[in-house]
Amino acid sequence: MNETKTIKIAPSILAADAARLGAEAEKVEKGGAEWLHLDIMDGHFVPNLSFSAQVVKALRPLSKLFFDVHLMISDPSKYLDDFIDAGADIITVHKEACGDDELKEISERLHKRGVKAGISVKPGTPPESIKALMPYFDMVLVMTVEPGFGGQSYISDMNDKIKKIAEYSAADFPDMIIEVDGGINAETAAQAAKSGATVLVAGSSVFRAADAAKAISEIHTAAEKAIVG
Ligand code: DX5
Ligand code: ZN
Repeated sequence: MNETKTIKIAPSILAADAARLGAEAEKVEKGGAEWLHLDIMDGHFVPNLSFSAQVVKALRPLSKLFFDVHLMISDPSKYLDDFIDAGADIITVHKEACGDDELKEISERLHKRGVKAGISVKPGTPPESIKALMPYFDMVLVMTVEPGFGGQSYISDMNDKIKKIAEYSAADFPDMIIEVDGGINAETAAQAAKSGATVLVAGSSVFRAADAAKAISEIHTAAEKAIVG
């Protein structure tokens, strides 16, 4: 197994105790997570609101985790600098949120400031639609639920999309990160990893577990087992 195939877990802070976000971020860092997933919702691109760059900034000094900011917002260009300044390590924008020229500009702006760039697709968006954009991005985030809410069930039909993206990556972009988001637990982690995902976002299954470290370790183990076995 080479380094690029090693699975990383990105707990989604959306499912954490909102009154204790700092302690929750520390809990999953101690519990063995590699990334922290931060969901930004604007009540327009998705039918829900979450939090702003201010929260990302407040968490930054408390955590060494790789900050994975998922922008589920209609006008990502407008807010990009706020999230860069807040300390994001990677910022993901949605294919459905803007045109291809704007997406390319966003990736350039991120790279210029030393931040990685991700592109995400909702369940209804076909993989073919982002193929030509992949050279501009470091990561593809495949949504395995409709974005907007935590706690939904993994859509197994998305496994084929993950496989397709993994095929494109293997052929032309071997360093591409493939992340999945929505409904990940130990069982669905195995499906996602087997299909080619390398970073697994997990909200409810980690933060709502009695023992977050155990939940992270079970997801890790199930995913690693699925790719070697
Ligand atoms: C959904 C968000 C997800 C969500 C995942 O719109 O993008 O990151 O928090 O939560 P779970 O793991 O509970 O599906
Ligand atoms: Zn997300």
